[in-house]
Amino acid sequence: MKIINGIGEMQLFSKQQRGKGKTIGFVPTMGFLHEGHLSLVRKARKECSQVVVSIFVNPTQFGPKEDLDDYPRDFEADKALCEKENVDVIFYPAAEEMYNQGKTFVLVEELGNHLCGKSRPTHFKGVATVVAKLFNIVKPDKAFFGLKDAQQFAIIKKMASDLNFDLEIVPCPIVREADGLALSSRNRYLSKEQRAEATVLNSSLNLALEMFKAGEKNAGKIKQAALQKIEGTSGKVDYVEIVDFDSMQPVLKAEKGSLIALAVFFGNARLIDNRFFE
Ligand code: PAF
Repeated sequence: MKIINGIGEMQLFSKQQRGKGKTIGFVPTMGFLHEGHLSLVRKARKECSQVVVSIFVNPTQFGPKEDLDDYPRDFEADKALCEKENVDVIFYPAAEEMYNQGKTFVLVEELGNHLCGKSRPTHFKGVATVVAKLFNIVKPDKAFFGLKDAQQFAIIKKMASDLNFDLEIVPCPIVREADGLALSSRNRYLSKEQRAEATVLNSSLNLALEMFKAGEKNAGKIKQAALQKIEGTSGKVDYVEIVDFDSMQPVLKAEKGSLIALAVFFGNARLIDNRFFE
């Protein structure tokens, strides 16, 4: 497994592999890898001949009061996990290498106005910018993203289509703990008590899906029931919304394929989760 720090070296590697007819599967991450990331790596391994994982805690997607400095990092552990999964390359650039006083940003309009974009107004501009840069550096045939960040997924897919990136964006299912909590690097911020309470995210989504299955289509009523369930814990709700997946705009009537998404703070940990109505 190669560790590449430089943009030029990464581009050269990809060019050479493509020249040999190899396909490149790319898993962009901010490191501190868990089973959720590894499920993306395994899918990339199955579908592509070369697998590149990037590890870069991207400063431009953190707001001034957010957890950039505290964001968990453990490169040695990440390296061992990647090695075990037969990753070919870890692209591990420094912030100066990636940005070098850059003044160009990518903004996907409208899709980022709701949900996480409301409370993190500069977040998706940072995500879209770094992902566009990573696509130009790694030049993948396929890039794999988890659906826990469903809004991020929709924004990246739109960005790739609008900017004519010649690659496939592959959605991958949310990976959960046995008790239903979606895996996240931020789960490590939770105290024992908060960790126990955080299962309410999944159970409130389950309740919403059950109501929908039983015939309730009124988005307001479903949302209210999910909110009430969370309000019985110490969690502070940032949002619970039912949206159309393509536009990320709230809907009045839930339909098959609509997304219920939520963000809840437990202490300093802001956790997100979502489910599609089916
Ligand atoms: O989902 C993440 O870990 C990040 O937002 C990403 C896509 C790696 C961009 O920094």
